[in-house]
Parts: sequence; structure tokens; C-alpha cells
Amino acid sequence: MSTPTPRKIAFIGAGNMTQSIVGGMVKSGYPADHIFVSNPSDAKLNTLKERHQLHVSNDNAEIAQQAEVIVLAVKPQLMADVCADLSRRVPNLDSKLIVSIAAGIRIPKYRQYLNENITMIRVMPNTPSLVGEGVSGLVADDRASAADKAFIEFAFDGVGQTLWVADEDELDILGAVAGSGPAYFFEFMASLQKAAVALGFDHEKARAMVQQTALGAATMAIDSDLELEDLRKQVTSKGGSTAKGIEVYQAADIDDISEQAVRAAVARNQEMAKLF
Ligand SMILES: NC(=O)c1ccc[n+]([C@@H]2O[C@H](COP(=O)([O-])OP(=O)(O)OC[C@H]3O[C@@H](n4cnc5c(N)ncnc54)[C@H](OP(=O)(O)O)[C@@H]3O)[C@@H](O)[C@H]2O)c1
Repeated sequence: MSTPTPRKIAFIGAGNMTQSIVGGMVKSGYPADHIFVSNPSDAKLNTLKERHQLHVSNDNAEIAQQAEVIVLAVKPQLMADVCADLSRRVPNLDSKLIVSIAAGIRIPKYRQYLNENITMIRVMPNTPSLVGEGVSGLVADDRASAADKAFIEFAFDGVGQTLWVADEDELDILGAVAGSGPAYFFEFMASLQKAAVALGFDHEKARAMVQQTALGAATMAIDSDLELEDLRKQVTSKGGSTAKGIEVYQAADIDDISEQAVRAAVARNQEMAKLF
């Protein structure tokens, strides 16, 4: 995507996600002098300033006042206090685009925290965003313009792929698949590693073998137009050794296990949303 018309964008919280998103934006050609970041302590701000020559502050409201776009990037449990301070000290919040990357807190809650008339986009990035290979789910309220959406899509394209979803319920599903997904894949990879070790393989070599196989399979899936199930069939010769292994997974009903896992994670997302 080409660089959109620059807007002054303020990131509240200079944690891991902000550092990755800002890094991706600058790498994609976004002017650093339009980026502002605030954080209570200095170390991360100093690193960001040194790396990108952007604006930093210890005062959230100070940078939020100057910005046209405010990205709320603090932990969910701090969000109410951070928003209360912004709502008290930043005039015209309803003329700015508000973006939150926090899990669990829904748009109507931000209207209560900040201002009933805000324009809002919620983004759910996943952890591989920290290495530029993320999936970010995005949902906009009906006040967000096409230009607002394109701007935020650009910001998150820098850390991986962006996927617009229809509503916040779908964002919970995306969280349960893409947000929790890295843990599911690690669990599966670790179990394959343990199996190799149980049969006598060296621990480190087993890890190298499993992770490169995961990367290779993901790359083949990305490069192929085939359905994932057809890709699986393509690498499974009838009567061969892979078919024997697959039979074991299918006997345990791997589809049902995945569906149960995703349903459990969605239910937990919805329970946690009630805490805010
Ligand atoms: N990391 C992920 O994979 C991931 C994925 C999806 C969504 N998210 C969401 O993204 C948000 C940020 O996550 P993260 O991983 O970047 O967390 P993080 O690394 O812990 O960063 C949070 C930052 O907020 C700062 N902070 C604390 N109190 C603040 C305040 N009052 N005002 C401004 N900043 C304050 C912290 O500063 P100090 O360290 O100085 O206290 C820290 O630098 C969270 O809501 C998280 O749920 C993260």
C-alpha cells in the first residue's frame, strides 16, 4: 500500500507493540516527524527517539492534543485511567480518530471512557507482529471514513497482514484463532519435538527439524492456491508413512479439538470483556 497523506499520530504507551508498529511505519516511508510517542518512563522513549528521530513525551495528554490520530497502546487494565486523563485534558477528542490495540475492551466502553462522539477503529494485532509477520484484525465504527480506514490499514500493514472484520464479535473470533494461534502452533511443534526425542532424536536437532518444517509448510501454504486440506492430501501418498501418521490425528478428531479450542478462547474473550 502506498504511504497515505501524513497525519500527526500519537501512540500512548511505548511498549513492544508501539515499537514494532512505529518501526514498520517508518520503514514504509512514513515521516517520523508526524509520529509522537508517550510513556511514563524514559528508556523506551530514548531508544525510539534515537532510532527514528520522532517526538516523545512523558505526558500522554500533551502529545494527544497535537495529534489527529491517537493510538491507545497500554495494557487493558490501565485503559480506564489513561482514558480518564485524556478525556479531562484533551479538548476535541471527537474530532480525532481514536484507535485501540488493547484486547477485550469494546468500542461502547471507549465512548464512556472518552467521549460519546469519538470516531474509533479497534485493532487486534497478534504477537508475530513483533517480528513483522503478524495478523491484525480491524473493525471500524460507522463514523470512520474510508481515508481513516486506509490510514490505519497502512499503519498495521507494516507489521504483517491486515484483515477487516464485520464487527467486534468477529474480532473475538479472530483473537481466538490468530491471537491465540501462535500458542497453538507452539504447542503442536513442541509435541512433535517431544515425539522425535522420545524416539531417540537429539533435543536441539529435533527443534531445528520441527521449526524448519513449520516454516516450510507455512511457506508452501502461502505460495499455493490449493485448499489447505488438498495441500495435505498432495503430500500424503496413499498407503505411505504420512498416511499412517495422519490416520492417528484423524482418529483423535483433530478438527473437533481445534473447534473446541477456538470456542473456549472466544468464550474467555467474551468473559474478559465483561471485566471492563
Ligand atoms: N504484545 C502483543 O503480542 C499484543 C497483541 C495484541 C494486543 N496487544 C495489546 O497491545 C497493548 C500494548 O501491548 P504491549 O505488548 O506493547 O505492552 P507493553 O510492552 O507492556 O507496553 C505497554 C507500555 O505502556 C506503558 N505505560 C504504562 N502506564 C502508562 C500510562 N499511564 N500512560 C502511557 N503509557 C503507559 C508501559 O510503560 P512502562 O514499561 O514504563 O510501565 C509500557 O511501555 C496492550 O493493550 C496489549 O493487550 C499486545
